Amino acid sequence: MVGERLTTNGAIVRTADWLGSIKPFNLDYQDDPGDAVVAFRTAILEADAVVVATPEYAAAIPGMLKNALDWVVGTGELYSKPIAVVSAGTTGGEHARNQLVRSLMWQGGHVVASLAVASPLTKSDADGWLTDQATIANLNELADTIEGASQLAPTARRRLIDQVASAAGVEPGHVAPIPGE
Ligand SMILES: Cc1cc2nc3c(=O)[nH]c(=O)nc-3n(C[C@H](O)[C@H](O)[C@H](O)COP(=O)(O)O)c2cc1C
Repeated sequence: MVGERLTTNGAIVRTADWLGSIKPFNLDYQDDPGDAVVAFRTAILEADAVVVATPEYAAAIPGMLKNALDWVVGTGELYSKPIAVVSAGTTGGEHARNQLVRSLMWQGGHVVASLAVASPLTKSDADGWLTDQATIANLNELADTIEGASQLAPTARRRLIDQVASAAGVEPGHVAPIPGE
C-alpha cells in the first residue's frame, strides 16, 4: 500500500525481501557478515528514506527484524535517515510500533511517521488488499510524509520526530541531531 503510493508519486521503491537470509547478529562475524547484510546496509545507505513495516509477535517486533536492525547499529547506515514505521497486530500492534520507534531512534534514525494497524485481516478483502478507508487514508498520509521527509527543513523534521518520539515514550535525549539544526 505504502510502496504503491510512493511508486505512483514517482519514487523508486526497493523491498528488502532477502531479510530472512541475514545471519544471526554476532560481533564475531563482523568481518564476514555475509551478502545479505552487505545488501541490507547498501540498500539503506542508498535510500533517501526507509519504511519499516512489521507484524507484532508476542507484544514485540519479530526476531528476524530486530536481528537485521542490530547489524546496522555499529555501521550507522540508519543514522539521520528519515524512517516511517508501520506495525500491524490483532490487538493493535502498538507494542511493536513503540518498540521499533525506540530501537530505531536509539540507533540514530529519524522516525518521522508511525502507524499501528489493528486487526488488519478485518480491514482487508479475501486477497489481502486493504479495504478500510480510514486505514488507507492513514497509510497514504504516512507515505506522503516519508516521501518528502528528506527535503524537510530541520525545524519541520524536528517537529515530526518529536511527535513520534513523544507518542512512543522515547526520551528527547535519544533523538539524534538533525543536520543543519
Ligand atoms: C507468533 C504470533 C504472535 C502474535 N502475537 C501478536 C501480538 O502480540 N499482538 C497482536 O496484536 N497480534 C499478534 N499476532 C498477530 C499478527 O500480528 C497478525 O497475524 C499480523 O499482524 C497480520 O498479518 P498477517 O495477515 O500476515 O497474519 C501474532 C501472530 C503470530 C503468528
